[in-house]
Amino acid sequence: MERQEALALRREYFMPCVRYFYKDPPLFVRGDMQYLYDERGKKYLDFFAGVSVMNCGHSNPFIIERVAAQLGTLQHLTNVYLTEPVLRLAERLAHVMPGRPVLPGAAPHGSSGLVSSFFCNSGSEANEGALLLARLATGKRKFIALNGGLHGRTYLTQAATGIPMWRADPFLPSDVYFADSAADVIAALEKDRNIAAFICEPIQGNGGIRPVPPDFFKEIARPLNDQGALLIVDEIQSGFARTGKMFAIEHYGVVPDIMTMSKALGNGIPIAAFASSKEIARQFTRPSASTLGGNPVSASAALAVLDYIEQECLCAKAEENGAYLRARLDTLAAKFPVIKEVRGKGLMLGAELAFDGGGTTDAGYVDDSAMLTDRILEELKERGIILGKNGLGRNVLAFQPPLVINRGDIDFLIGNLEDILEGDVLQR
Ligand SMILES: Cc1ncc(COP(=O)(O)O)c(C=O)c1O
Repeated sequence: MERQEALALRREYFMPCVRYFYKDPPLFVRGDMQYLYDERGKKYLDFFAGVSVMNCGHSNPFIIERVAAQLGTLQHLTNVYLTEPVLRLAERLAHVMPGRPVLPGAAPHGSSGLVSSFFCNSGSEANEGALLLARLATGKRKFIALNGGLHGRTYLTQAATGIPMWRADPFLPSDVYFADSAADVIAALEKDRNIAAFICEPIQGNGGIRPVPPDFFKEIARPLNDQGALLIVDEIQSGFARTGKMFAIEHYGVVPDIMTMSKALGNGIPIAAFASSKEIARQFTRPSASTLGGNPVSASAALAVLDYIEQECLCAKAEENGAYLRARLDTLAAKFPVIKEVRGKGLMLGAELAFDGGGTTDAGYVDDSAMLTDRILEELKERGIILGKNGLGRNVLAFQPPLVINRGDIDFLIGNLEDILEGDVLQR
């Protein structure tokens, strides 16, 4: 297919809500670990991984082989039947999630660790399920979420999303209080005794790669507990070795009551889950199902992902390469004042751009740094690099590559980024 035909099909048959990063978006036809290829045979270094999904690399042969074997054996029933891959995945997750047993092979503890899983298809669905579980477990109705958080596109998860651009529904319920700090969370808990849970990402992805402050979870733990409200941690974007640990919440030494995951769990095969301790899971006695959730094929992909992460030490690689990338970005920030802040953990890094004296426009964009962000993305694409962007002002460069990248890839990116900034902002 030619690019012109692709663009015509898109105009004719897609809903207009589907947006693209580029004026002339490449038509990708092939992926190979950290690289992508378009229909003209041009090679790109991927630094966004399909929004933090392809942690193990595009079309990773190790994973493909296991998925293909499962496809040829048993493809689908549904989760009202027993199939081995799904059971094995639930067992495996209990051994990697926060609160896992310290001794290898020991049984996970029922009271505190996350052990019980429910499988579904998307991050939105997992968060919707987690919010429902919190309501069932506490008998309370409302939630607290963070401004700048993104939790999904279903009714309730959109209501819990604190980014105006992603709140498309004009009739969202007012069941959610929004907070900017631990003090705000505590104030909301004091104001309303009907709070079922506080939900947040340990590092906001779409909100601009913003880690919550180091003591945040410690400060809210007691007030949450006193009010009988649960902590839901959304690891959909930050999970599976991305930040240098299996889950980003491990940087904070906290075991959440409920955790949600998706994206990198399937490395491109749709799968999601929410998990809790046995004690909380026991409250979910009403029937629930997900036709394609807990599919043997997606579960096989997830098991292969967990094997690959372990075998290839992807946590250590994300930490090491993340530190290297961060050091190089910090050097760029020292040279170009338009880079206001470099933040994040492991290979989930963001660089916020803002011009001195620039304010916020009515559209929520910070001066013309959103335009600079777009120019950088366009120019990097021309040079064969795919980078992400996010943030409330769409002015944060997002570095979330497949975790299989190497230093040479990072040097290639940084060299080009430096060159572009020199040609752009230094000429203003
Ligand atoms: C942190 C977070 N939570 C939830 C979601 C929603 O996931 P999905 O797009 O799979 O429904 C996303 C996706 O962008 C996300 O980044």
